[in-house]
Amino acid sequence: MIEIPSKLIDKLQTSEKIVFFTGAGISAESGIPTFRGEDGIWNKLSPEELANFNAFMKNPKMVWEWYQYRRKITHNSQPNAGHLAIVEFEKYFPEVTVITQNVDNLHRRAGSKIIYELHGNIEKNYCIKCKKRYDEDLNFEDGIPKCECGGLIRPDVVWFGEYLPVDQLRKSEEATISSDIFFVIGTSAVVYPAAGLVYTARQYGSFIVEINIDSTEVSKICDVTFQGKAGEVLPKILDEVRKIKS
Ligand code: OAD
Repeated sequence: MIEIPSKLIDKLQTSEKIVFFTGAGISAESGIPTFRGEDGIWNKLSPEELANFNAFMKNPKMVWEWYQYRRKITHNSQPNAGHLAIVEFEKYFPEVTVITQNVDNLHRRAGSKIIYELHGNIEKNYCIKCKKRYDEDLNFEDGIPKCECGGLIRPDVVWFGEYLPVDQLRKSEEATISSDIFFVIGTSAVVYPAAGLVYTARQYGSFIVEINIDSTEVSKICDVTFQGKAGEVLPKILDEVRKIKS
């Protein structure tokens, strides 16, 4: 039984600007594995070998195999009740922003309008030499896609040791600072600078609501924490919003 605390109901009544800051956990119910935790990807595979630029230059074929494998999983997945509930919030609040660490494109496929992707998007690519951008129609030669200029094409995702897309981070910070309610959903909140947004929300007085199946590094600074699945808790909060706004 999911209980919505009265202090969250009060806050939902007066709030206008809502931010949803999401991590791999929101897509877990769509069948996309998370990075940490029991079945986490990084328990089985090493980020040093697969998610950094030097590894890519050393063995682009292996890194591409890994990304093609993940693409297949995301293509075969559908947005779940959590992604869809977030879209519904747009009916009831004037400003709803999604800030995601996920590269799986599921918030866009669900229909959210304002989305900042802090770690890139697995469906986009670019040439590391001439910077030409490519969608998913790539010509693979011996397992590696090459640009017209002869350069190597890489996925447009942020790897370890790389900086976040500056415009996406700046807009995320602005949305966080001005938010009335800041939802932290399905993230272990250990990867920076993205996780720092939760502390920014705290610093600027936003009401912070966490939804996670476990407690996390940031649970203690949240105003309300729901220990449960995003795809179950978010629709319940949305029901409450519908009641308030009807
Ligand atoms: P993690 O895998 O670190 O954390 C996933 C979180 O989701 C955990 O806290 C789980 O408890 C929680 N969780 C799992 N299933 C859930 C569900 N159904 N509902 C709610 N919560 C659930 O994923 P992130 O925090 O997103 O970076 O990881 C951050 C970054 O680390 C990723 O963007 C990626 C990774 O390395 C890059 O690739 C740059």
